[in-house]
Amino acid sequence: MTERVHIREVGPRDGLQLIKNMLPVEQKLAWCRGARDAGIGEVEVTSFVPPSVVPQFADAADVARGAVALGGFTAAALVPNLKGAQRAIDAGIRKVNYVLSASEAHNQANVRRSTQESLDNFKDIVDHRDALAKQGGGRVQLGGGIATSFGCTISGPVDERRVLEIAAKYLEMGADELIVADTVGYGNPAQVRRLMAAVVKEAGSVPVACHFHDTFGLGLANVTAAIEAGVRAFDSAVGGLGGCPFAPGASGNINTEDTVYLVESLGLDTGIDIAKLLELRRAVEGWLPGERFTGSVARAGLPKTFPQSLSQHQQPKQVAT
Ligand code: COA
Ligand code: ZN
Repeated sequence: MTERVHIREVGPRDGLQLIKNMLPVEQKLAWCRGARDAGIGEVEVTSFVPPSVVPQFADAADVARGAVALGGFTAAALVPNLKGAQRAIDAGIRKVNYVLSASEAHNQANVRRSTQESLDNFKDIVDHRDALAKQGGGRVQLGGGIATSFGCTISGPVDERRVLEIAAKYLEMGADELIVADTVGYGNPAQVRRLMAAVVKEAGSVPVACHFHDTFGLGLANVTAAIEAGVRAFDSAVGGLGGCPFAPGASGNINTEDTVYLVESLGLDTGIDIAKLLELRRAVEGWLPGERFTGSVARAGLPKTFPQSLSQHQQPKQVAT
């Protein structure tokens, strides 16, 4: 059995944060369906923030309900506070990914409170989740996100000890997953290898994901470094869209198609069909004319040497250049 690496498609959330035009609910759901049909196991389908903060997510409840109804994948949602978590759970979401920042300055800019206050708010979400489970509502999974773990465009360097301290607090409070994020793309492979080895050790049996942005072209190198450190889950967005509106200078997420290509090339299994991902990418490009899409596989097609041994993969088709 080849070892599995989990890819979470965050395009319908992170990918849309900087996009001014409202993508209709049907297209957001088509994005989720396309990701599911390509073999992606989890999609971050929306963000439960006030519509005044990010108007793109004014339709969060409709998208969440629609995505849950699609079935066949985990529909996750990002939340910044208890109210967001309550709205997400009310809309049927059973995987809530919480966000706070290791950088105090970014936490203030992003969620208007200190990192410690955000940690306290996470505990409120855990308590809410546990109370619901007691009432027979099933168990909601909670991902603990640590934004700006590799540096901050507002305040510069971020102390690795602070990231580890936050990871430990999340684990103590009952997070089901840690999501270590390079929100602005400042991370480099040496830093990623060092910090992620420590986080993976701290997490023990709790899964650890990395969330990279490709601002300086090191996104995929950072994926390789994280894999070497024991990370087996990554966030990425089809077409490399994305960026935090409250982190000046942030740019796109790592590209899902290229990430899958890299991981499979390393001999690990994503369970994802790249040809189907490319179909999805073409659809998203059609919905968002004028936006900047990235990606090498979409440009060059898959090479003839691409691994063929995995049964999920169809014969790689040369795609239009
Ligand atoms: N969803 C909907 N409404 C919410 C909400 C949520 N998750 N959280 C708060 N609100 C409402 C409150 O009910 C209140 O409404 P009212 O004025 O009608 O009473 C209002 O918003 C202000 O609430 P408050 O708790 O004071 O929030 P705030 O103004 O301090 O903002 C956040 C805090 C966290 C809600 C806001 O900073 C935020 O959404 N940040 C996320 C930014 C983001 O999306 N970043 C990119 C992803 S990392
Ligand atoms: Zn991001």
